[in-house]
This record gives sequence, structure tokens and C-alpha cells, in this order.
Amino acid sequence: MDPMPEQEKPEGSSDTPLRSQDYSEMEDWPGYFRSVLGKDPRETLLAALDRFEQEGTPPGLAIDIAAGEGRDSLELLRRGWQVVATDDHPDAAPLLLSRVSEDNKARLTTVKVDFSEMEVPTCELVNASFALPFCRPADFPVLWRRIVSAIRPGGRFAGQFFGDRDTWATIPGRSHHSREEVEKLLEGFEIELMRVEEKDDPSDVHNPKHWHLFHVVARKE
Ligand SMILES: C[S@@+](CC[C@H](N)C(=O)[O-])C[C@H]1O[C@@H](n2cnc3c(N)ncnc32)[C@H](O)[C@@H]1O
Repeated sequence: MDPMPEQEKPEGSSDTPLRSQDYSEMEDWPGYFRSVLGKDPRETLLAALDRFEQEGTPPGLAIDIAAGEGRDSLELLRRGWQVVATDDHPDAAPLLLSRVSEDNKARLTTVKVDFSEMEVPTCELVNASFALPFCRPADFPVLWRRIVSAIRPGGRFAGQFFGDRDTWATIPGRSHHSREEVEKLLEGFEIELMRVEEKDDPSDVHNPKHWHLFHVVARKE
């Protein structure tokens, strides 16, 4: 799966379409939300939800960290979960709420909060899709500690870590990890899925980059 393969041609552009990844690089979140609106839920979330279903665990509380425009929160609601969707950008919650059916709204809480100030309630699932690399390195250890302690035994973490060989690792303020560091962060979890994705963009796209990603689903012991 391409991590963020969606493309759009921005207003006034000539012949180099921007992709959602270009908006992510610039941290132009409204541009990013526009470029991914209506896309399917992330594979890591689906893999985690399938595992809960296979073991017969009923839907519980999920915290969707940096939920963005809400592709994953919508899927969680659709499958009967109680959802707390957080994001620091003011456009995120309205975009999500505008797409939630009246029936599902009672199971959704949106919180506008920066990673650094986020309390993580006790829950069955923390979902952090393409979110953690945007947490400042100084704030990461506390955020990660809160994530780990919030997940009940038998609960899961689903999401992505960005690797140390990824082009964006050199951008100030980003949190990237080596494989060893990811495995250390996941101590106390059974790693159920760890898909390492490492590849180069084709050279003819706007601003090609090297991708180094860890797609993770892990069950707390
Ligand atoms: C690449 S998007 C991922 C959105 C969504 N989870 C997805 O899978 O498409 C990164 C998200 O992180 C949010 N974000 C960036 N910096 C943040 C911060 N310091 N605190 C909280 N959220 C932040 C952005 O608003 C954006 O929604």
C-alpha cells in the first residue's frame, strides 16, 4: 500500500500534481484533509479491528489520535465503537462531524488538543495513523507513556512509526525511530503486525522522497 498516494492538482499549478504527502511535508493540514477526504480507513486500523472481532471482543473505547478529517473514526463508529477523536487543527473535527450520521454522533467525542497536552483515557484501542511523526521529539516520550498506560491489557495499538531512514527524519520537530527503537517502544506488547515499508518515490513526481515506515498492530500483554 502506498502510504499517502492520493493526488490532486492544486489551484494555479502547472503539471506537477501535489499529493497528500506534499501537504504533510509542509504541514498544510487543510490541503491534506482536502486531498484525502473520502478515502478508505487505514490498513492498520482494519487489521486491529479484525483481530478484536476474531477473538470475540465487543467494540469498546477507541482513541483516534490526530484523527484528521476522520477516515478511521468513521470506520470505528460504523463498527460500533465509542470514539474519542483528537487533533490539534481546528478544521479536523468539523470535517469529521459533518460526515457522522445522527445515529452515531452520541458515540463520538472530538477534542482539539496538541500532542503535548493530550490526556489519553483508559481504552481498548489507541489508533494513531500517520500521526506520531508529527509529535515534537521533546513531547514524544510523555505522549507514548500516556498511550501505553491508557491501553487496557488485551487492548491494542494500531498505527505508523516513521523510520530513521525516511527523508522527513531531517525535518526539525519530527519524531522518527529506528526499528530497534520501535521494538523497544513496543515492549510489553505482542507485535501482531509489523510491516516495514521502504521505497523511493518515482523521480517524476513532485518532490520525490525516500519512505521508511513501520505499519504496526500490537496487543498489550
Ligand atoms: C498525516 S495527518 C494524519 C491524519 C489521519 N490520522 C490519517 O490517517 O490520514 C497528521 C495529523 O496530525 C495532526 N497534527 C499535526 N501536529 C499536531 C500536534 N502537534 N498535535 C496534534 N495533532 C497534530 C494534523 O492536524 C493532522 O490531522
